[in-house]
Amino acid sequence: MNYEFPKPPRSLAGKVAIVTGAGAAGDGIGNGRACAILLAEDGCAVVCVDRDLKLAQRTVEMIEAERETTTTTTSTTPHIQKQGQSQSQDDPDTDRTTTPLAIAIAADVSIEADCKRIVDTTLHHFGRLDILINCVGIAGAPGTAVDVDMTAWAASMQVNVASMVMMTKYAVPAMIYKRPNNSNSNTDNNSETETDTNPDTSIYTEIDPNWMYRGSIVNMSSVAGLKGGTPHLLYPTSKGAIVNMTRAMAAHHAPQGVRVNCVCPGMVYTPMMYAGGKQPKKKMSEAARQARKNRSLLKTEGNGWDVGTAVRFLAGPQARWLTGVILPVDAGATAAVGTDVPDLKAASVNG
Ligand SMILES: NC(=O)c1ccc[n+]([C@@H]2O[C@H](COP(=O)([O-])OP(=O)(O)OC[C@H]3O[C@@H](n4cnc5c(N)ncnc54)[C@H](O)[C@@H]3O)[C@@H](O)[C@H]2O)c1
Repeated sequence: MNYEFPKPPRSLAGKVAIVTGAGAAGDGIGNGRACAILLAEDGCAVVCVDRDLKLAQRTVEMIEAERETTTTTTSTTPHIQKQGQSQSQDDPDTDRTTTPLAIAIAADVSIEADCKRIVDTTLHHFGRLDILINCVGIAGAPGTAVDVDMTAWAASMQVNVASMVMMTKYAVPAMIYKRPNNSNSNTDNNSETETDTNPDTSIYTEIDPNWMYRGSIVNMSSVAGLKGGTPHLLYPTSKGAIVNMTRAMAAHHAPQGVRVNCVCPGMVYTPMMYAGGKQPKKKMSEAARQARKNRSLLKTEGNGWDVGTAVRFLAGPQARWLTGVILPVDAGATAAVGTDVPDLKAASVNG
C-alpha cells in the first residue's frame, strides 16, 4: 500500500548506536546491556561502552549469539552506509560479511578524553553515529545534605550528569556533520585518523526521509529524579538534573535534527540489585524485593528488558515526533498516590 505519508519504519538496520554502561555482572540483564541487545535485535550496530571491558565484551558476545540464531532463518546483518560515502562507493556484499554487529570499548565516561575517544572510535569503525544511549549512572555519595562528603558528591555528579554532557558534546557533531570519505574505516578500532574527527561543519548529513531527524539521544534518569523519598541526596539530585537537562538539550539540538529524550525507570531488578554489582554482600533481600514491587500500581517486578524496550522506542524512528519527553517506566509507581511506601533504606539502591 502506498500511503501519502509513509509509516515510520521500525527497523534500525544501517544505523549505529553508542550505549554507555553496556556491561552487567555475569549474564545478567542490566539496563544498558538490555538497550544494547535490543537495538542490535532491530539491526543497529552497537558500540558497547563500559569501564570494565570484560563486561562490555560479554554484551557483544550475547549480541553475536542472538544474531547467529536469527541469521539461520533471516538475514538481519546491517548494511552500514558510512557518512560521506555514496551508495555506489560502498560494496554491500563486502560490508555484510565484515561489519560486526557490535564492538566493545573500555572507557570511563566521567573522563572527557574517554568520551571523545568513544565517539572517535565509533566513527572510525562504523563511519557514522545515529543514536546515543547515556546509561551510566551510579548510586553515588551516600548521606543527606548534613552528612554527605562533598568531594564524593562532586565525583558522583561527574559520573551521573557531566558524563552525559560530555558524551553529547562529542556525539552531536558526529551525528549532524558530514565527514570526508575515509576509506580506512572499519579496519582497526584503535587507530583513529584525523579524517574521522574532522567533520566539515559547513555540511550537514542528509536526513533520512523516513526518520525525519539526524540523530537521537536517550538519557537514563530514574523515578528518583521525579520524586523525593529516597534516603540519600546525591542520587535523586543527579537524576532530577538529567530530567531537565534532557528538556534543555532537546531545545538546543532540535534545530540540528537531534531528538533528546529521557527514561525514568522504577525499581527494576538488575544485576546491580541481585548480584550486588561488585559487592555481592550487598545482595538485595527478598523482603526488600517485595517492598520494591509494592511501590508500583501493577505490583509486578520490572527488569532491564522493560527499560530497554522503552529506550529502543525513543531512540528509533517510531518516536520520530518525540523530543524532550520524560518517560517513566515504573509500573505506575509515579502515576498515583497511595501505593505502599516501603522501608526506604531497604528498598534503596545504596541504602
Ligand atoms: N537498577 C535500577 O533499579 C535502576 C532504576 C532506575 C534507574 N536506573 C539507572 O539505570 C542505569 C543503569 O543501571 P543498572 O542497574 O542497569 O546498571 P549497573 O549499575 O549495573 O551499571 C551498568 C554498567 O555501568 C558501568 N559503569 C559504571 N560507571 C561507569 C563509568 N564511569 N564509565 C563507564 N561505565 C561505567 C558498570 O561497570 C556496569 O557494568 C543507571 O543510570 C541507573 O541509575 C537503574
